[in-house]
Amino acid sequence: MRVLISAFAIGLPLVSGLAFTGAVGFGSFATGGTEAYVVTSLADSGTGTLRDATSVSGRNITFSVPGYIVLESPISLSSDTTINGQTAPSPGIGVMGREISASSKSNIIIRNLRMRQGSMETDDTKSAFNMGDATNIILDHCSIEYGVYDSVDAVGAVNVTVSNSIIAFPIGQQFGAHLETGPATWYRNLWVSAHNRQPLTKANTQYINNVVYNYQAAYTVADTSGDFSHDLIGNYFITGPSTTSASDAYYQIDDNQSAYASGNLLDSNKNGVLDGSAANTIGSAKVLSSPWNSGSAAIASLTAQQAYTTVLAGVGASPRDSVDAYVISIVESLGTEGAIIGSQADTGLANDGYGTL
Ligand SMILES: *[C@@H]1O[C@H](CO)[C@@H](O)[C@H](O)[C@H]1NC(C)=O
Ligand SMILES: *[C@@H]1O[C@H](CO)[C@@H](O)[C@H](O)[C@H]1NC(C)=O
Ligand SMILES: *[C@@H]1O[C@H](CO)[C@@H](O)[C@H](O)[C@H]1NC(C)=O
Repeated sequence: MRVLISAFAIGLPLVSGLAFTGAVGFGSFATGGTEAYVVTSLADSGTGTLRDATSVSGRNITFSVPGYIVLESPISLSSDTTINGQTAPSPGIGVMGREISASSKSNIIIRNLRMRQGSMETDDTKSAFNMGDATNIILDHCSIEYGVYDSVDAVGAVNVTVSNSIIAFPIGQQFGAHLETGPATWYRNLWVSAHNRQPLTKANTQYINNVVYNYQAAYTVADTSGDFSHDLIGNYFITGPSTTSASDAYYQIDDNQSAYASGNLLDSNKNGVLDGSAANTIGSAKVLSSPWNSGSAAIASLTAQQAYTTVLAGVGASPRDSVDAYVISIVESLGTEGAIIGSQADTGLANDGYGTL
């Protein structure tokens, strides 16, 4: 039993001091930027662009234009930045072709941004979103597809939340997210058609009300020598055509780990119906009889069945575009559709698989 010493330690949403109303978990105290900057151009660089907006710290960024920004090189964010993708006119804002990086930065809030790296990327060591060695970061209602190295690379990241986001169809290494250090919160995300790392977490972790579809390996610890604690509550793992071993929902988790698991379901029969059975044995992790973090129970408000409905209805950037609609439709096949792909073009969607915005 750990002694809880601060609001941070208990990971509870506070009445004030949150990144935004409803922010949860270890990244929820990020304050972002305050100086207003309006993105008025979809160009790669220059006045009024996202690259220019994020080149100086302290900015609170909104959008007066919708559409895709085709990146010609990675964007390296500044610390103390808020990106309010939800302010873009319909059909919303996205980036394609290169990495968005918060590497080694701190205090960043990103909401309603589509990050679709895809085969336009020329550097296979880059990810769709990189927050390596970053601190106090929250991503919410983002749509992260077609990542090349990882969808989300977070090695060395501290105080992280990824919530209400789609992490789907990675290409390249075909990996979801890789987080080390932490602590980290993964809350109400939809993970689709990855080979592994949904996430790979070598950190104290909250993993709550996520839906994972068509995995080869889902929640992974990679038999690390580190001794971490994991709260897994109300998640739904659903196998698909690419799933070779349903039990790899929990992968490479040895007895150096400690896990509290409750209300997790595994639907392993690929029968087009949402069903399945309890899946609360987390590899050979030591079993915790209560969550390692007392904030976990407070945010675990949905059963796995409710998580399925809520996540599919509201996850990702809004309004929902053709790429996200495709992701959702694949999940709704409940076992019969889905593939782990090598290029966004394999989806058959318009614009070489990126869809149009
Ligand atoms: C992580 O968040 C807590 C709570 O806000 C804070 O006390 C701590 O300093 C943060 N860690 C880092 C490395 O910023
Ligand atoms: C940042 O901009 C958003 C959208 O306009 C606004 O709702 C929010 O209050 C702003 N935050 C700060 C700290 O200025
Ligand atoms: C557990 O960690 C120790 C090092 O602390 C390592 O020697 C051992 O191999 C780990 N156990 C497993 C099963 O990997």
